[in-house]
Amino acid sequence: MTESLLDAQARQALTSAYAPYSRLRVGAAVQSTTGHIYCGCNVECASFPIGGCAERAAIAAAVLAEGPSLELVEVSICALDDTDTEQMIPPCGACRQLILELGPSAYVRFLGQGHLRLRMAIDTLLPQAFKLLR
Ligand code: THU
Repeated sequence: MTESLLDAQARQALTSAYAPYSRLRVGAAVQSTTGHIYCGCNVECASFPIGGCAERAAIAAAVLAEGPSLELVEVSICALDDTDTEQMIPPCGACRQLILELGPSAYVRFLGQGHLRLRMAIDTLLPQAFKLLR
């Protein structure tokens, strides 16, 4: 799959990552139904569980801008290790849960096995998901 504008924004976002412990810099870019794009990066902490993923940072920026009516249509994730080699980062389980909640029909783009960029529906990435009635 060719690199999209969203992938390029995710790649740019990872340059802001604060990842002194894992040295894995992750960037995420999310696009909403309005067409706007919001970015985030991972932020680590010496108290490890406090650190956060790039996807959730991008989604927080999107909610801040658009409020509770936000609906995600596409998410892109990009990561580089400390040798500047691109790493495969399928979203973690917690991020899948939040992407599904705010974008039940969203697609997620990430580098997969064999270094092919994949584009997968979130309900394929998180089948039989836990949901609460809202
Ligand atoms: N990370 C993300 O930013 N997104 C994911 O989906 C998986 C993991 C970050 C968290 C941590 O800073 C680093 O990658 C290593 O786990």
